[in-house]
Amino acid sequence: MSKRRILVTSALPYANGPIHLGHLVEYIQTDIWVRFQRLRGNHCVYVCADDTHGTAIMLRARRESRSEEQVIAQSQQEHERDFSHFQISFDNYGSTHSSENRQLCGEIWSAIREAGLVKTKDVEQLFDVQQKTFLADRFVRGTCPTCGSPDQPGDNCSQCGTTYTPAELIDPISTLSGSTPEIRTAEHLFIELEQLHGFLEQWTQNEDHLQPEVANYLKGHFLGSGDSPEGAKILRDWDISRPAPYFGFEIPDSPGHFWYVWFDAPIGYIASTQQWCDKNGECLDDWWRSEECEIHHFLGKDITYFHTLFWPGMLKTAGFQLPTKVHIHGFLTVNGEKMSKSKGTFIKAETFHRHLDPSALRYFYASKLGPKLDDIDLSLEEFVMKVNSDLVNKVVNLASRSAKFVRDVGLASVYPDDGGLFDKAAAAGEEIAEAYESCDYNRAMRLIMALADEANPYVEQAEPWNLKKDPARAGQLQDVCTVAINLFRQLVIYLSPVLPDLAKKTETLLGEPITDWEQSKTPQLGTPVAKFKHMMKRIDQKDIDKMVDDTQKEQAEELAATLSESTAKFQDGGEALAAEPMTEECTIDDFVKVDLRVARVVEADHVDGARKLLKLKLSLGGDETRTVFAGIKAAYEPEKLVGRLVVMVANLKPRQMKFGLSEGMVCASGAGGAEVFLLSPDEGAVPGQRVH
Ligand code: MSP
Ligand code: ZN
Repeated sequence: MSKRRILVTSALPYANGPIHLGHLVEYIQTDIWVRFQRLRGNHCVYVCADDTHGTAIMLRARRESRSEEQVIAQSQQEHERDFSHFQISFDNYGSTHSSENRQLCGEIWSAIREAGLVKTKDVEQLFDVQQKTFLADRFVRGTCPTCGSPDQPGDNCSQCGTTYTPAELIDPISTLSGSTPEIRTAEHLFIELEQLHGFLEQWTQNEDHLQPEVANYLKGHFLGSGDSPEGAKILRDWDISRPAPYFGFEIPDSPGHFWYVWFDAPIGYIASTQQWCDKNGECLDDWWRSEECEIHHFLGKDITYFHTLFWPGMLKTAGFQLPTKVHIHGFLTVNGEKMSKSKGTFIKAETFHRHLDPSALRYFYASKLGPKLDDIDLSLEEFVMKVNSDLVNKVVNLASRSAKFVRDVGLASVYPDDGGLFDKAAAAGEEIAEAYESCDYNRAMRLIMALADEANPYVEQAEPWNLKKDPARAGQLQDVCTVAINLFRQLVIYLSPVLPDLAKKTETLLGEPITDWEQSKTPQLGTPVAKFKHMMKRIDQKDIDKMVDDTQKEQAEELAATLSESTAKFQDGGEALAAEPMTEECTIDDFVKVDLRVARVVEADHVDGARKLLKLKLSLGGDETRTVFAGIKAAYEPEKLVGRLVVMVANLKPRQMKFGLSEGMVCASGAGGAEVFLLSPDEGAVPGQRVH
């Protein structure tokens, strides 16, 4: 078999938020495939990077009074930490804010210009005068121009379904500042994708570049030609630039214009490969301009369009190799629902890692992932059961019940008769390999567990623990353990793309590295066996509970630290998915439930270790006081707050935060960060008075 040269990528996570269990579906799926390819002897290189540009980072930097560079450096560090905890084996982890990326963007841009695909058009957009920025659709709300429903999003009405541009909204409001934006016209650069229609139709519909359901979706929605029932479709021009201010790369031949983040993000795949090449004496063209190299992208279904139309179009125009395959996966749900912060199921990688073994998650995802785009569900109950019954009871148990009996004598030097178990498992190797190759990990796991199900009865019947008692049967004991350990070793080789940690512990136990899939075909014989050390702990429900609990606490803290609901909603940019709608109409009854009171600040202090919070002691008159943690550190010096009147929510359920108990909230307006404006009644108001 000749060695394949394979370049693999996962989508670049936004630098704007933490890695969570949803992301990990993708990075674990990709990493398993990469480790499998390496084990098969292929030359497989896995690159990724942080996706750093765009409005969300710019706004976050402003809010936190830091530079964008500081924000993305911190994210990069946190992301790399999380990925290493989950044993994601990147060969290079770069950043889209790199010199390599800037250079490559320039090259690809020139090629697109030369191909005559770029044109300019004036775009009317809403501009937030306070925040001094153009507003993307999702940062605007207003009244629907068709049906008059209030508080609708910037692109389409949730009541009547009409689509419109934010500029058409009646009484638009910027959710960044709450101010009324103005309409401003700016020139944007567009790529005329329609010129590539023929190529894209051909590329997406042939040679298995895409899963069949993806190819059909593209044909049905974007690419259908004259013979499709819906008639010919025209690809829309792609708006590829943003006017300043924008955190990104300025377009060299169009000063004042920046590439839209989705232009430079996928080029980050090439830039990260470039960095790897430079460190390893390799040549980029062997990976991105060679027919000898396969290119595989892994990504979630939400970003299909970018990777199956724009990206191939860019690569084709600039003379790069096209992806061999784009592998698209579904979304993670937890306990059957979208991940939710309030239910404690918006679980960060770091929080999981604090309480549970990353190997367990790798195995669970593997057991759920198939080659299709179905969403996958992490039922926490099933997770506990599956990991304990498969990995602990079936796999690790094989070793733990036999290794200790052969510590002194080692493995037999001739493989004993095992009734054909070893050969059968060796023969299953090809089928398991095919399942991995086609990303059907669920099938691979089932095949492997079926082998484990045959190995376990062998040990139970042979009862090594009884043989041990009879010195006359020492030879038989050694044989039985040699079989058990070799069946275990086969399972570990097959599982090693999923469970690198278990593979490493097995290497230590048996004193031989696992480097090649073919090792599953021959037993290991005549070698010593090290002292058995525990390989995998049972999952305890208590640890799950602690993780969910921590997740809920993190959320409470985040909410308290984020003053206006609009910033809460958009704090994690792309993850607006999980955000609740910003406002809902309420009745007078609803309103009076909120107990707003005048309060006087009697103490105000910095909080050790908190970036955004001040600790306030508020007097409600008499000796009634409340402690409140408020995210106003960037806007106020604590000393200057003492003595002033504020308005507080006095009947908010107290929340346990990392820094202590918070017993309410103070009311303020503004975007957050340095732009926070505390509400105060006129002098004369008395602490404790209710606000109506
Ligand atoms: N920055 C873009 C990708 C640019 S690629 C040139 C992006 N970032 S992301 O952080 O939002 O998502 C990164 C990857 O994780 C995407 O492929 C996305 O589909 C995937 N997932 C994010 N949340 C997910 C789930 N809840 N479930 C499964 N995958 C999810 O998109
Ligand atoms: Zn409407």
